Amino acid sequence: MRFIGRVADGATETRARLILLKDMERQVLAEELVLIKNGGEINPVNEILGVLREGLGKNEFLSHTSYRPDVAYLRHGGEPSGAREVYSFAIEPIGVITDEGIEPNRAIIQPRSPVYLLEDKDNPFHKIVRGKDIIWSDAYLEGHPSWKIPFDRTFLPYHVGVYGSTGCGKSWFTRHILIPLYRRAGYKVLILDWSGTDYAPMLRNEEVIRISEIALDEESILSYFQDKTFNFARNDTIKDCFDEFIDGWTAKVKEAYLNSENPAEHLYSELKEHVETVIAGIKREDSRAAAYRAQKRVFRRLKPQDLYPVMGVLSIEELFQELERKGMLAIDMGGALTEAKLGFFLSLSKYLYGLMESGRNLGVALIIDEAPQYAPWDARGIQAETCEMIKNLAALGRKRMLNLTLIAQGIKGEIGVNAAVRRNLNTHFFGRIHPLDASGEGGASEWLSPYGISPNHLLQLKPGRFYFAGAMNPSPVPLLITYKPMD
Ligand SMILES: Nc1ncnc2c1ncn2[C@@H]1O[C@H](COP(=O)(O)OP(=O)(O)O)[C@@H](O)[C@H]1O
Ligand SMILES: [Mg+2]
Repeated sequence: MRFIGRVADGATETRARLILLKDMERQVLAEELVLIKNGGEINPVNEILGVLREGLGKNEFLSHTSYRPDVAYLRHGGEPSGAREVYSFAIEPIGVITDEGIEPNRAIIQPRSPVYLLEDKDNPFHKIVRGKDIIWSDAYLEGHPSWKIPFDRTFLPYHVGVYGSTGCGKSWFTRHILIPLYRRAGYKVLILDWSGTDYAPMLRNEEVIRISEIALDEESILSYFQDKTFNFARNDTIKDCFDEFIDGWTAKVKEAYLNSENPAEHLYSELKEHVETVIAGIKREDSRAAAYRAQKRVFRRLKPQDLYPVMGVLSIEELFQELERKGMLAIDMGGALTEAKLGFFLSLSKYLYGLMESGRNLGVALIIDEAPQYAPWDARGIQAETCEMIKNLAALGRKRMLNLTLIAQGIKGEIGVNAAVRRNLNTHFFGRIHPLDASGEGGASEWLSPYGISPNHLLQLKPGRFYFAGAMNPSPVPLLITYKPMD
């Protein structure tokens, strides 16, 4: 520990500023951790751990809004005096260090109290985690590779959000830090790789299942066709025909695979035939004509190859058994249509929900990358259903050891996750944010500025840097964390 300065005038129990000793401004950086010996080196009231933010350099002589002798001197090429320069940082108190761990500070922080910079050998996290059920991660506090970041295991099923603009390192962070952490906590990890490029290529072959291999439940298949055909051209007869045909779908698919060179074509003509037969049997002439027109429109939109995404035969139950066996599984959703991906998600989430309802503790972490695809801010159609399911999974998952990890470009609005879903996430990682999130209600700055973290800072974070905030962080104040990628 190194003595670096003292507490300035005007400190309260929750806020203080540090005046740096001479030349310390060259070495002491924002986001470093410090210890305040409140009341003096000898016999302090308490010892407060804090994090440095909002650095400020003041030199009254160099006011840019008024003309002073020093300014005149500077304008003519001279070097003004630094004699009255003051450098300071805000100290965000993390808490008082006690034998039971970290406690909120209630004593006034006394001006003049000495402040010490924590150095590598003074790892503070062992003090922060006392009395908590902790798992250690491979991430560390920015600037201190040996200070590994602890996570509070209790709050793992209270769900996680990872936010940041494209390329800020969300998928990497999830792969390198969160997934190994979940595995260490005893959770099995199921990854939904939306484009099939972020996780699936990095895993072993047997840990990846392609979405087209999976059988969807009949309701999801109906939703898929509904989306594909503009709601069956709004004709109830056509809808009923599809519904009837989908009954026993997987068996029909298996049969098509057995009996035909081109199973999609085979299935398509069976489906079309079924619809035509039903229409031909309609007695009322006007209804028949309407159904016929709708049928033409539907089959003009729907092509045989559109059937492939719903022609998988692996059941969700078998998929879940694979996950139990292997501990980790990625679903490669690349190439499939959005409706098919969401249809699969509906089947999966219904299955998981069913297991939990029957009283089973899952011990599963579900990684949902590109989360706004499943739960957009203005969820409609099949997205309204997936959004609702995520909300239900989140609520029941808290009691049944299901962790949801949602990854999104932003927090609120068009680039964010649906507000009702977002309220269920209790741990957050904020990477470099999109300017849309820099201001306004519900954005990153609203989450972080109470802790002295400014939007400007968030706009400039380097890839792989995240502010860790919320329930799983044993520190009540968000901290800037990072890691070294292994491969
Ligand atoms: N911790 C890190 N250190 C260095 N580079 C990183 C780190 N994390 C990510 N990157 C770089 O950023 C790129 C984008 O990361 P990715 O996780 O795909 O971003 P996102 O999912 O947010 O769009 C990676 O290809 C990699 O080059
Ligand atoms: Mg990504």
